[in-house]
Amino acid sequence: MLRFLCLLVFSMTFSVSVQAQEVAPVDRSATGGAQTLEDIMKRQEGLKVDDSFRSGVTGNPENAAPISGQLGTLGGASDPDLWRAYRYNSAAITTQARGPAADVLIQDGGMWWLEFRQGPLLKYGSWLLGGMVLLLAVFYLIRGRIRIDGEKTGQTILRFNSVERFAHWLLAGSFILLGITGLITLAGRKVLIPAFGHEAFATLAVASKWVHNNVSWAFMLALVLVFVFWVIHNLPDRTDINWILKGGGIFGHGHPPAKKFNAGQKLIFWSVIVLGASISASGLSLLFPFELPMFAVTFEKLNALGLPQLLGLGELTTTLAPHEEMQYAQLWHAIVSFVLMAIIIAHIYIGSVGMEGAYDAMGKGEVELQWAREHHSIWTAEVEEKKSQAGST
Ligand code: HEM
Repeated sequence: MLRFLCLLVFSMTFSVSVQAQEVAPVDRSATGGAQTLEDIMKRQEGLKVDDSFRSGVTGNPENAAPISGQLGTLGGASDPDLWRAYRYNSAAITTQARGPAADVLIQDGGMWWLEFRQGPLLKYGSWLLGGMVLLLAVFYLIRGRIRIDGEKTGQTILRFNSVERFAHWLLAGSFILLGITGLITLAGRKVLIPAFGHEAFATLAVASKWVHNNVSWAFMLALVLVFVFWVIHNLPDRTDINWILKGGGIFGHGHPPAKKFNAGQKLIFWSVIVLGASISASGLSLLFPFELPMFAVTFEKLNALGLPQLLGLGELTTTLAPHEEMQYAQLWHAIVSFVLMAIIIAHIYIGSVGMEGAYDAMGKGEVELQWAREHHSIWTAEVEEKKSQAGST
């Protein structure tokens, strides 16, 4: 899953830099080395323009006519030279403000991020969530609710104790709040401001940001709790292969044997842990701007592994401006969150309307014995065995 996500984000975010490598040199003699009509047209089409012809043109004090001369100047850099130096981050800026990003006055590379964030990210993210809802609706129409096949016994069996259920609902409640407030933040300029106006959105945005920043701690805590409580039951074993080969018994009758968690649930568990941890890490990087840069070091490690080269992306850049670090953190945070939200929508479906008797496990903690026998036969047999041993002593 992680490898797939790497592939996804790299192919999406680096398609721009790959294009840059493919650009053929442009003849600029007609404009005296300045930008050409072709450059302007390309920019208007949203294509990457190789800026190297002007990024280095930031003036040379050596070329200045001496101030003592008749047409003397104060220096060898014109205003455009100076602005280019700001833009391409080569000006020697001194500032009283302290911090890693204080001397970056213009971040030229930020445009593609801005456009990607309000364009493809929002569009494909919404498609992913909408597609999952649609898929589940179709599944429901075809398969209907997964019922308890056998006769109900009227007896229950303890599935999750109150501490486990507390951890689950802390995780679920915080994730849902984070998902909603995150989407509000992402869709603000494109959807919510046009729909409700700046003033209404301003209030909503401030509230969303506050909730998002603070509830994140509850999510991280719950993630750790859930991991500690359930990791032992989610280690892969031989029963998972059989369960997967039989498609979890989703279609037709009969359920493949399973321990406390079946292979499908293990997949949910590890998605929540791995993707949740990744969202938390990038979220912390965003919560403490410029303090926790993660991407340059990650790119360095990926380059060393040869992964980007294998995908034809060449070496990833390992010198990132502080703002670029934040932009990658934002994209990663949002993309991984969209993927986890889609997975969780499916989980919520199967844990509620999709399967008779499942919700009780997290609602009351006790499930119908027949449900347990059908869905988790090995685990139920073990629990019943322990019970009968305890009863006979
Ligand atoms: C709010 C709607 C939700 C409902 C109705 C729900 C329901 C359930 C139920 C019934 C179970 C136990 C299944 C069993 O007994 O075998 C479960 C387990 C679990 N839930 Fe949720 N859940 C919800 C949201 C979430 C969210 C938002 C997350 C994580 C971000 C989450 C993570 C998990 C995990 C990791 C498990 C254990 C693995 C599994 O059973 O798939 N749940 N949930």
